[in-house]
Amino acid sequence: MAFKVAERGAIAPFIVMDVMRDAARRQAEGGDVIHLEVGQPSGQAPEKVRRAAAKALADEPLGYTLALGTDSLRERIGHHYAKTYGVSVPVENICVTTGSSAGFLLSFLAAFAPGDRVAVAAPGYPAYRNILKALGIECVNVPVGPATRWQLSADSLSRVEGRLDGVVVASPSNPTGSMLSSIEVAELATWCELRGIRLISDEIYHGITFGRPAATAAGMAAASHAVIINSFSKYYAMTGWRLGWMVAPDDLIRAVECLQQNLFISPPTLSQRAAEAVFDCTDELDARVAGYRENRDILLAELPAAGFGRLAPSDGAFYLYADISGLTDDSRAFCRRMLAETGVAATPGVDFDPYEGARTLRFSYAGSAADMAEAARRLKAWKR
Ligand SMILES: Cc1ncc(COP(=O)(O)O)c(C=O)c1O
Repeated sequence: MAFKVAERGAIAPFIVMDVMRDAARRQAEGGDVIHLEVGQPSGQAPEKVRRAAAKALADEPLGYTLALGTDSLRERIGHHYAKTYGVSVPVENICVTTGSSAGFLLSFLAAFAPGDRVAVAAPGYPAYRNILKALGIECVNVPVGPATRWQLSADSLSRVEGRLDGVVVASPSNPTGSMLSSIEVAELATWCELRGIRLISDEIYHGITFGRPAATAAGMAAASHAVIINSFSKYYAMTGWRLGWMVAPDDLIRAVECLQQNLFISPPTLSQRAAEAVFDCTDELDARVAGYRENRDILLAELPAAGFGRLAPSDGAFYLYADISGLTDDSRAFCRRMLAETGVAATPGVDFDPYEGARTLRFSYAGSAADMAEAARRLKAWKR
């Protein structure tokens, strides 16, 4: 008997995970790998976080929490908006999620219907595209490049043919690390608000910036219908704890709550208890950011001599996005060969950009300075 396999479930792989698998295989076979593919902080979460987790594990039943998350964590998140950005975010609008990944699923389900059209930047984070597809929502890839600092703009959105129901922006962005100014965020929010287009602002890399701080859409008058997505994964260095949050507008928060009740019941309880402590770890976390900056500067100084001279501005996050059109038109094969011949793992641009990704790649500099220097040394010595 032939069983049905649903077409909507047949989404593209998250190629970086495939690269990680190849890298792990090489390591298992005794080869060494410098991991410039993985987009996650290395090492453990801050000690206070681990201590809070140990205490909760010893003392608490750790049952389900409210679907929107514990009141105490939601309050801490609310304080974070007041302290970091000087904006007031009502606790009732905050939903704790299972990583920001669940935030996308919940917000896309709450805000968009099958057949709706949602714009994302190309290059951009691949899961936006793939989750939208799984939900039967059309992803409209809008090419971005140096002219708009690799970000969507009101102008580029105005040129999109046909209707739009939503726009996803990320600043700092993955894969380029480029950022929107607060004026640009406000312009995008206004453009969306005036047209009844739902803005989803992915702010997961906030905190990891090297010049000016990142601007949040939260609290902007023009963003009163926008969804703000954030996470404990990147600045807070808690990827595997699978915890994030969203600020959902009044017209979506109840739908988000009901979806969360049914899809996840509640976000992970132990992680929620631990995450409360992370807001007291900013000195340690900022020291990590200083390390990312040092890593970026090593690569910026060394990569041009290795043939990777055309790089997007890495204002934040921990990525450098390289134009390698002078080296290949098959970034996947190029990355495979680079891994095999130098041990340096990077992510091919095809993960991020359906148009130009065969001629780009992404380096992640979330690792150690020693790894950056060694990767640069090997790439410079690589006889391609
Ligand atoms: C731009 C962006 N958004 C969201 C995520 C998802 O992160 P998480 O589900 O761990 O919060 C990532 C992960 O790499 C990302 O780069």
